[in-house]
This record gives sequence, structure tokens and C-alpha cells, in this order.
Amino acid sequence: MTIPQEIADTIVDPKAYADGKRIDDAFSFLRKEMPLAQATPTDYDPFWVVTKHADIQEVERQNDLFHNGDRAATLTPREVDQKVREMMGGSPHLVRSLVQMDNPDHMAYRRITQGAFLPQNLRKLEDRIREIARGFVDRMAEKGGTCDFARDISFLYPLHVIMEVLGVPEVDEPRMLKLTQELFGSADPELNRLGAEVKDPAAGLAAVAETVGEFITYFNEMTEDRRRKPREDLASLIANATIDGQPLDHFAAMSYYIIAATAGHDTTSNTTAGGLWAIAERPDQFKRLKADPSLIPSFLEETIRWVTPVKHFMRTATADAEVHGQKIAKGDWMMLCYPSGNRDEDVFADPFEFKIDRSPNKHVAFGYGAHVCLGQHLGRMEMRVLWEELLPRLESVELNGTPRLMQANFVCGPKSVPIRYKMH
Ligand code: HEM
Repeated sequence: MTIPQEIADTIVDPKAYADGKRIDDAFSFLRKEMPLAQATPTDYDPFWVVTKHADIQEVERQNDLFHNGDRAATLTPREVDQKVREMMGGSPHLVRSLVQMDNPDHMAYRRITQGAFLPQNLRKLEDRIREIARGFVDRMAEKGGTCDFARDISFLYPLHVIMEVLGVPEVDEPRMLKLTQELFGSADPELNRLGAEVKDPAAGLAAVAETVGEFITYFNEMTEDRRRKPREDLASLIANATIDGQPLDHFAAMSYYIIAATAGHDTTSNTTAGGLWAIAERPDQFKRLKADPSLIPSFLEETIRWVTPVKHFMRTATADAEVHGQKIAKGDWMMLCYPSGNRDEDVFADPFEFKIDRSPNKHVAFGYGAHVCLGQHLGRMEMRVLWEELLPRLESVELNGTPRLMQANFVCGPKSVPIRYKMH
């Protein structure tokens, strides 16, 4: 079964994600009519589109059968894919971080930082994260009742936290934010390096490659510094790690920094902005949350489901397989559609309603299985602490204009959430 062309073109179109409704409608159609079918969007190699929650988990559970690294791990147009392979000596990846790896490398590289991201080890960061969150809540109060919550607060707070964890000095944070937005917003004329609509894929790729190059130059210096003088930060952990007694492959180490410095804040920022947007539009739920802060964890879990900032990851079948009764051939490319899994009517009652007390809430926004988000506990802690600080001081909040979503098909969410509020 092949997906109608219009729907296939929609699910790769950054503008459909910026629209919100267009992408929701496309996934709703697919879940109902063709839950696992092949798409042949113009400009892309064909791939299977996995839209049901259970199928996403089934594919992710079998990480030796469905690989991350054999082809591009995120949606990549055919022409760009060819150019990346030319640039990278045959490899389909511009970087080689955990999400481009399979075992045995994946497990070995993940182990290096896994311990640092466990809840019991993150606990010691909570007081410092609270101090940072309080600073941002004060900043919001100082704004005097109106701000763009995305631009002024939510894009800066998780950035500050992860940069401190990583060991990047505060003065370099604007540069890290800009590079991240260029990378994830490469199809958004307001955010990308070209400052324009990307018409020519080769020019778009050159701009992205330049951004990756800037990250690498920055982290090269940092690695050398941490090898000379190790500190108590993630950068030192990566710089001085060994696998089987050998230092890390240099490119993989650079990619490790890049994923922490990008996925480590943009995901949480988008989610935080989306949570505020959702609550600003629902005064009854805001009132309930204020009256009962023990609802903060379930409100946040619902926010993560609602926003689902990571829109997909790709997998490649390493052997002939079957999913949802559909034969998948060895070498086939597959798109795991997390926003669709998180609106699956078979798992979530009223999936298009935002409910702060939704329980259970077994969303797949952090993925599943061996590659499940390494930073999920950090992301949750940051958001919980921010809301614990903000909620007691926020008397009222409403939208002060129309929020806008980023034009992108990989990691994205609201880029502007104008609000009016009262605080004490
Ligand atoms: C992987 C989502 C926050 C670091 C992932 C994946 C998703 C995701 C969907 C892929 C999982 C899979 O393939 O099964 C999110 C969301 C976040 C968030 C929704 C916040 C709301 C963070 C934070 C960090 C982080 C704060 C901090 C460093 C990573 C890393 C991976 C990853 C390193 C790769 C893991 C691997 O392949 O083994 N994340 N993430 N993420 N995330 Fe997050």
C-alpha cells in the first residue's frame, strides 16, 4: 500500500509542522486508513511510515533488527543524502552521535554518560537548577506583565542549565543557541543561516555543514582544555573517556558534544513553551493547577505528550521483517512518527484534548528502547523546578497574540508565545 502523494509530501514538509493542524490531520488519516504504509514523497527515497504507538515501540524494541546508523537517522532528501555521502567518504551522516550508532558502539558510547543522567545522580543538581529557574521567574516578573515566553524565557533557561552541565561558559550561550537554531531550524527562514527560504538543497546542506563545522571547532578547543585540566563537567567526562582502553574516536567525541549542546536544550525549551501556551489557553486548568501543585508532574507529562518536540527518527531494517502485518524488506527505511503515536486513539482517550491530570500517560515523546532519551530525567527535572517556582507567583496568564510554530520537520515547537500575565 502506498500513501497518497499529497499526504506523503505533507509529512516531510516543514511548513506542515509550522501549521500544526495540517500535520495532525495527515497523521490522523494515516493512523485510521493506512497505519503502516510506504511513502514516496517527491525528492525522497521511499520509506515506511510508522504511525501507531504500539508499532513505534515494537520497532524500537528490536534495535538489532532496526538500525539507526545504516542510512540517514533523520529525514534527508535524496539529493542531500548523495551530497552528504560524497562529503563524508560514503557515510550518510554529517555527525556520528548516539542516534547514528548501533551496537556494539552505541552501548559503549552511551555508557560513558549514562550514569550522569540517572535520577539519583541528577538530584545533586536540583538546588542549582532551582536557583537558575528562580532567576528566570524574576526576569519574567521584571518584564512587567507581557513577554514572549519562548524568546525571553523558555529558550534561555534549559540552554543555561545544559551549558553549565556541559561546562560551556555563559558568554558562549548566545552562540550555542544560534547554532542550535540554525541546525534544527535549517528550513525556517527566520532561524537558518541563510536567512531565507531554502530553495536549493545543496545551499541548505552547505549552510548546515558550516554550522556543524563551527560546533566542531568550538568543541575541539574544549576537548584539549579538559584533557589538560579536567573539571567536574560533562565535557571532561567525554574528553577523558576511554573504550577498551582507547580514547574516543575524535569525530564521535565531537558529535557527543554536539548532541548534548543541541538536544540538551531545544527539546526542553520547545516543550516548556508549549506547556505555557496550553495552560494560557485553558484558564480552568490553570486554576486547578494553581490550587493543587501536586498536579505539576502529570501536567508536565501531558505537556511533553502534547508538544512532542522530536517529530521522528528513522530506522533501517537489517533483515526481512514484519510489522503490523506488513512485510518490510532488508534495507528498507522507516520513519517513526512520535507525534502520531502520541495522538493514537487506541492508547489515549480524547487524544486531541489537553488534560493536566491524564493518567496513565505512556507517551513516546522520549522514544523507547535502547535509544530512549538519555536526558529525559534532566528535562523533566528542569520543567518541574521551573513550574514549582513560577506557579506560586503567577496570578493569571493569557495569550497576547498568536503563537507561532517553527518551520521544521525534525526537532521543533513554538518559536513565539506572546503572553500577558500578573505576577507577584
Ligand atoms: C534521544 C526526546 C531532552 C539528550 C532522544 C530521542 C527522543 C528525545 C525522541 C530519541 C529516542 C529514540 O530513538 O528512541 C527528548 C525530549 C526532551 C529531551 C522530548 C525534553 C522534553 C533531552 C535532554 C538531553 C537529551 C535534556 C540532555 C543531554 C538526548 C540524547 C539522545 C536523546 C543524548 C540520544 C540517545 C541515544 O540514541 O542513545 N531524545 N529529549 N534529551 N536525547 Fe532527548
